[in-house]
Amino acid sequence: MKTYRIAAIPGDGIGKEVVPAGKRVLEAIGALSGDFTFEFEDFAWGGDYYRRHGVMMPADGLNEIRNKDAILFGSAGDPHIPDHITLWGLRLKICQGFDQYANVRPTRILPGIDGPLKRCAPKDLDWVIVRENSEGEYAGVGGRAHQGHPIEVATDVSMMTRAGVERILRFAFRIAQSRPRKLLTVITKSNAQRHAMVMWDEIALEVSKEFPDVTWDKELVDAATARMVNRPATLDTLVATNLHADILSDLAAALAGSLGIAPTANLDPERRYPSMFEPIHGSAFDIMGKGLANPIGTFWSVVMMLEHLGEMSAARTLMNAIESVTADPALHTADLGGKASTVQVTEAVCAFVAQAPAVVTKAV
Ligand code: IPM
Ligand code: MG
Repeated sequence: MKTYRIAAIPGDGIGKEVVPAGKRVLEAIGALSGDFTFEFEDFAWGGDYYRRHGVMMPADGLNEIRNKDAILFGSAGDPHIPDHITLWGLRLKICQGFDQYANVRPTRILPGIDGPLKRCAPKDLDWVIVRENSEGEYAGVGGRAHQGHPIEVATDVSMMTRAGVERILRFAFRIAQSRPRKLLTVITKSNAQRHAMVMWDEIALEVSKEFPDVTWDKELVDAATARMVNRPATLDTLVATNLHADILSDLAAALAGSLGIAPTANLDPERRYPSMFEPIHGSAFDIMGKGLANPIGTFWSVVMMLEHLGEMSAARTLMNAIESVTADPALHTADLGGKASTVQVTEAVCAFVAQAPAVVTKAV
């Protein structure tokens, strides 16, 4: 029997509710398969840890999780700690420390979910957003001087390396190639940002030659928002910079019905380090501790974890269970206009998993 070693980092807010739900679902999948099981180690890093120790995670924390097969992450954010501290002290420390340079964000309108677009059938919105996850606007380059004086100055420098752009574009072309439509939209802002974004466009053209079977086009990020709303079916795989894709993926999640459903994978495609899987929603302190959080974003992230581990059949079983649950409005949480609790949705997904025909490991 194979054992996958998972680091569970609930973090803050509703992360403490959805990560235990995610573990429960992984256990249900493991029990069904009989071929593999999960061994969890919990790391209580985040806002509470910061209050006790002055840091979000221990200085050598990465070493504690370096040898895990994957990381299940909840959220980082605390109303009493500045957001840039919670972000840089935990989530970005892991993403950048483990060079998880490819952030993958699939978006679909799941069965039973009502998206806000009037003229969009569920089949018209089936996207994967690939977000550059290691540099660009999140490179952390910049500084402040003359603080508190009238001449105060602050810079955030977006830094793009040829190696970083090449690897994310190559990854995005590969994702596009693996999907039925083989369609990629490269998003930049090369009219206004005339250096790094022009380099993106040039590298996109170079890398595209390695993928003659992928159809691709370019779109400026502002025009991309309008296209997502007005012509969603013309998009399939999208690739964009760290910040552009951050913004586009919130729009995508909202168009698909709720931020509570949207999943993320922070991948090290070269598998030198563990990859990290997390729901897109934040810590949502307004609803924390009430059992109202939608765990579907975490479950879909768990599907992506199973795919990354090579457990394709288990991933499909779990995705089917998720879609059976979203199809039933009685199992919708408050973000979807329903009354179901986190626990009810979790138990319903586990029940569907338990009913599924036995998972055949690695069957494709
Ligand atoms: C996301 C989030 C984060 C980001 C926040 C929490 C800093 O919005 O994962 O999309 O901007 O990267
Ligand atoms: Mg975001």
